[in-house]
Amino acid sequence: MQTKNDDYSALRLHAEKKIQEAQKANKALPQSDEARQLIHELQVHQIELEMQNEELRRVQAELAISHARYFDLYDQAPVGYVTIDAGGLILQANLTASTLLNRARTVLLNRPLTNFILPEDQDIYYRHRKQVLKTGGSAACELRMMKNDRTPFWTRLDCAMAQDAHGDPVFRVTMVDITDRMQAKEAFQIAHDKLEAQFYQAQKMEAVGELAGGVAHDFNNMLNVIMAYAQMAMDTVALSDPLHSDITEIMTACHRATDIVHQLLSFAGKRTIAPKILDLNEALSGMINMLQQLVGRNIKLVWQPGQNLWKIKIAPSLINQILANLTINARDAIAGKGKLTIRTQNTTVEKPNPESQAAPKPGRYVLLAVEDKGCGMDKATLARIFEPFFTTKEPGKGTGLGLATVYAIVKKHNGGITVDSEPGKGTTFNLFLPREKAEEDSGPGPVLNQAS
Ligand SMILES: Nc1ncnc2c1ncn2[C@@H]1O[C@H](COP(=O)(O)OP(=O)(O)OP(=O)(O)O)[C@@H](O)[C@H]1O
Ligand SMILES: [Mg+2]
Repeated sequence: MQTKNDDYSALRLHAEKKIQEAQKANKALPQSDEARQLIHELQVHQIELEMQNEELRRVQAELAISHARYFDLYDQAPVGYVTIDAGGLILQANLTASTLLNRARTVLLNRPLTNFILPEDQDIYYRHRKQVLKTGGSAACELRMMKNDRTPFWTRLDCAMAQDAHGDPVFRVTMVDITDRMQAKEAFQIAHDKLEAQFYQAQKMEAVGELAGGVAHDFNNMLNVIMAYAQMAMDTVALSDPLHSDITEIMTACHRATDIVHQLLSFAGKRTIAPKILDLNEALSGMINMLQQLVGRNIKLVWQPGQNLWKIKIAPSLINQILANLTINARDAIAGKGKLTIRTQNTTVEKPNPESQAAPKPGRYVLLAVEDKGCGMDKATLARIFEPFFTTKEPGKGTGLGLATVYAIVKKHNGGITVDSEPGKGTTFNLFLPREKAEEDSGPGPVLNQAS
């Protein structure tokens, strides 16, 4: 290895050589030996100094370049760097850290790092610092920091203990923006939870359907027996006999019970009724009078049939059942004077709506809309309306099977339902009944983009 003395001797040799060259060129005047020796020494020394100076300047320039390069690397690093003293104050911050926090570097210096951490997440940071202090090593944590305008963003902090130039402990922290990753994680979690809830709901519907179907079947048999005996008793009792009106009451109650049983059976999908290819407008026209009777005189029923309606394939009695349920619900929601509109229209659904299990898949449908200006529903009610036995009505007023039945019928026919409702404003039920494929094409109809 070359020593400092070696460097010096080489330098001196180099200087002496230069003087000799100069002397040869100048042809110096004859001088005394001592004076010549002295001058020689001086000249050597001067040249040595000049050469050392030059070397010093070169090293200085190299240092400046290396310093600038270091700061370029430090400032432009893809992660934020901050150095924090033992009291938690920021001593140094690179440009990336100041960009991440959207604040000038001068604003960051001598401030506690916690000033830039979301208050709810500051405990995470304190725990993390304590851990690093305890182990004396390094650790990472994920928390939300705040931009200048207090918008939060997710950050991963990697903190390591070190010492400053005076040997005092400092924390060197790197900051990485992980907002995209956290958002993707959150979106995945939401989608996962939703799927789980939908699966649970579907299982519940199936189980309740099975149970309701079984019970309704047995109950129906017994009702038939009760009605047969009531009929026989009625036949033997004179019209004038008070017993006759009692038996009539039994018969009326039995008929109402039969309606409920039929509702249950169709909800459970146990009633097979022959479907027909039909024009929904024609089927509805014949029902409007009956529906008007159902809602009473205080509610104005407006019937708006769409033009050139595509055909659908469904049993007419099911249309009856759907409309009766929706109309009675609307009547109860209006509770007084009001308006109920029933509309039909050809519709093409272009995009699926992954948010809703009830919504129609892309395809062509005949839309049946039932709109009321009644009390409307809040989000919590809206989320449960298709659940069997869900009702907000007083005990004895509602079974909570109406919409579950409508849902079951529509889904069985590969259709879909969307509901728009707002408390105090009213509700619109949109039923999408698939266009019957066998019929001729007659234009696409309006387009509905659910996902937009
Ligand atoms: N048009 C509407 N406006 C406001 N709320 C409604 C409307 N339709 C249904 N609901 C709400 O949805 C709930 C469930 O309706 P659903 O028809 O399934 O049962 P129900 O009407 O309570 O009882 P049922 O129809 O069996 O007699 C209702 O209790 C009500 O809270
Ligand atoms: Mg109802």
